[in-house]
Amino acid sequence: MTGRQGRSQRPVTVSIVGSTGSIGTQALDVVNSEPDRFKVVALGAWRSVDLLVSQARQFRPDVVAIGDASAAPALAAALPPGTEVVTGIEGLVSIAPLGEVVVNAVVGFAGLPVTLAALEAGRRLALANKESLIAGAPVVQRARRTPGAEIIPVDSEHCALHQCLRAGRSPDEVARLVLTASGGPFRGRTRAELQGVTVEEALAHPTWRMGPKITVDSSTLMNKGLEVIEAHELFGVEYDRLAVIIHPQSVVHSMVEFTDGATVAQLSNPDMRLPIGYALAYPDRLQHPFGAIDWATLRRLDFEQPDRDVFVCLDLAEQAGRAGGLAPAWLNAGNEVAVAAFLEGRVGWGAIASVVADTVDACEQIPVADAGDVIEADRRARERAEQAVRRRGLAA
Ligand SMILES: NC(=O)c1ccc[n+]([C@@H]2O[C@H](COP(=O)([O-])OP(=O)(O)OC[C@H]3O[C@@H](n4cnc5c(N)ncnc54)[C@H](OP(=O)(O)O)[C@@H]3O)[C@@H](O)[C@H]2O)c1
Repeated sequence: MTGRQGRSQRPVTVSIVGSTGSIGTQALDVVNSEPDRFKVVALGAWRSVDLLVSQARQFRPDVVAIGDASAAPALAAALPPGTEVVTGIEGLVSIAPLGEVVVNAVVGFAGLPVTLAALEAGRRLALANKESLIAGAPVVQRARRTPGAEIIPVDSEHCALHQCLRAGRSPDEVARLVLTASGGPFRGRTRAELQGVTVEEALAHPTWRMGPKITVDSSTLMNKGLEVIEAHELFGVEYDRLAVIIHPQSVVHSMVEFTDGATVAQLSNPDMRLPIGYALAYPDRLQHPFGAIDWATLRRLDFEQPDRDVFVCLDLAEQAGRAGGLAPAWLNAGNEVAVAAFLEGRVGWGAIASVVADTVDACEQIPVADAGDVIEADRRARERAEQAVRRRGLAA
């Protein structure tokens, strides 16, 4: 061990599943910012062949995984000689344990097998894919107990909370965790003003550039509701001690209130490379300052209560979190189906919450023995959600 922070000279090996998306490409930016510190050993995505090829040419991983097997021949033909290609979900899962750190940057419930493979192999999981922890909590929490396994959150709010809770603070000292939310593109609008909003408007996030699914989730505040469940699962804090506050500048990424009235917060400009780098470098820190604040120009930090009458997804998610068991899996599946239908123009924005509510109402709680039970619950919930989409059509 050498250096100011006592870290090893040997590069940390990294697998990135979902390397072609918003988080995945930014994870590669982080690696590129400190190339002697990290070595990419595996990359994987669903079907973005051209981007995977250019990433593989630059970062020279040993293995590249592609979910859509029909794209494998084109991928294999263009990769640097000696790069192994693996395919299908099994292929994506097989690359997770290859790195000491696994970045799960897959979008949606499809990320569950990657989360489980990383934890069951005793790896550090840099978790962007919140859906796997939320929907798969009963099995993910078991896998998390594997020796060596740990989750370092990549979501900026949970990364902030993780930083505020460091330094050996005891859970008894914590009064509340306060998650901040930008409020999304529709902050301040009434229900009437939200009638007929378009996909383009929902995708115009004021402070973050992200993939389409999470951007729509931010517009409904479902993203914040999912993050409340994520905070409960990550930090073991009960729902009565989890709060949400709107903070339009996205500079305060979340806060911990302590029992004596002190609040500790983490601030930085909105740049996902900071939380990604935190998870890659943990317990050390990156030397490259992504998101550092210029205090000479920062003028104001505003806070307001979320409008829970308009953005009902927030309460729907908190209720599912409190119900526990498979309710978050049904919530998540309902939301994924509703958001996909909205992006395809099959339902209006206002129908997203209704589809989710219909789906959660049908939730079947059964004991969860293994991941198969969660996958079956997700399948059944998607069926219900599809029926709700067909019923609601373009009415909302
Ligand atoms: N973007 C952000 O700033 C941000 C912030 C906080 C948390 N997150 C979370 O990070 C995760 C990724 O979000 P994103 O915005 O980066 O999404 P994104 O830009 O849509 O990228 C998704 C990635 O997942 C891959 N993928 C798609 N379907 C898949 C499947 N069925 N199986 C395996 N891989 C699949 C995609 O591959 P192809 O390109 O080949 O389709 C792509 O690499 C989400 O859980 C999101 O909530 C994102």
